[in-house]
Amino acid sequence: MKRTGLTVALLFVLSCIGPAAAGDGTVRNCTWCHGTSAQGYMVAPRLAGQRPAYLENQIRSFRDHSRDNPFSKQYMWGAVAALDPESVHDLAVYFASIPGKPANDGNPSLIAVGKTIYMDGIPEANIASCYACHGPNAEGTREIPRLGGLAYFYLKARLEQWGQGYHSGAGTPMPIVARALGPNEIEALASYLSFVR
Ligand code: HEC
Ligand code: HEC
Repeated sequence: MKRTGLTVALLFVLSCIGPAAAGDGTVRNCTWCHGTSAQGYMVAPRLAGQRPAYLENQIRSFRDHSRDNPFSKQYMWGAVAALDPESVHDLAVYFASIPGKPANDGNPSLIAVGKTIYMDGIPEANIASCYACHGPNAEGTREIPRLGGLAYFYLKARLEQWGQGYHSGAGTPMPIVARALGPNEIEALASYLSFVR
């Protein structure tokens, strides 16, 4: 009886650490850059709460080098080179399941302007509404990422980089969307989005 109790307890403990154990070392290999509970740290973005299909997609594009901006090359190409497809999937599901906290680090005086561009775009300047794809609360869906609460610096860099000719995978509409954005729009959008929860 006692033994069974112990076995059950052990199994319970093992199932609790299950997702992390899927990559015991591996999750830690990610969080030492992406921050405690993957909330983002310095130039490494928050992974917590991101769409699992998007995370999986991005890890694949780091692996095949199609996401090619300087930080991706420097940090991510190596970090995921040895992952097998199953670990890629498990890590994506695991990080997506952690609730994300908003970075709140943009310029608060630009929230209103940023929100208007996000919701409506600027038709006369050919700027698309972000809402149409990323959703009313910037929560994303499937391969379209959650933007709400990501760090200002990261959002700004991403929006600038498509215009500079860097890629993030095949067939994304973002280079065309971002080409229409000027520095003021990028500033306002990145500020607004950093506060969305
Ligand atoms: C040495 C630091 C470092 C390590 C280790 C690391 N990352 Fe990253 N990661 C980064 C940086 C920096 C970026 C931002 C790249 C950019 O600017 O485009 C990033 C970006 C990402 C992105 C893209 C997120 C998005 O919103 O587009 C994913 C997904 C990701 N990392 C997953 C992982 C996983 C999974 C691991 C562990 C196997 C990991 N990272 C380990 C530094 C790191
Ligand atoms: C037609 C659909 C569509 C529209 C409109 C759109 N996006 Fe996107 N966006 C996407 C997709 C799909 C991705 C994922 C790209 C990839 O897989 O590399 C993405 C990725 C992003 C990312 C990268 C997030 C990360 O974690 O690295 C940012 C930032 C972004 N979009 C901002 C915007 C903003 C701001 C607007 C409005 C000006 C906008 N998007 C309009 C579809 C869209």
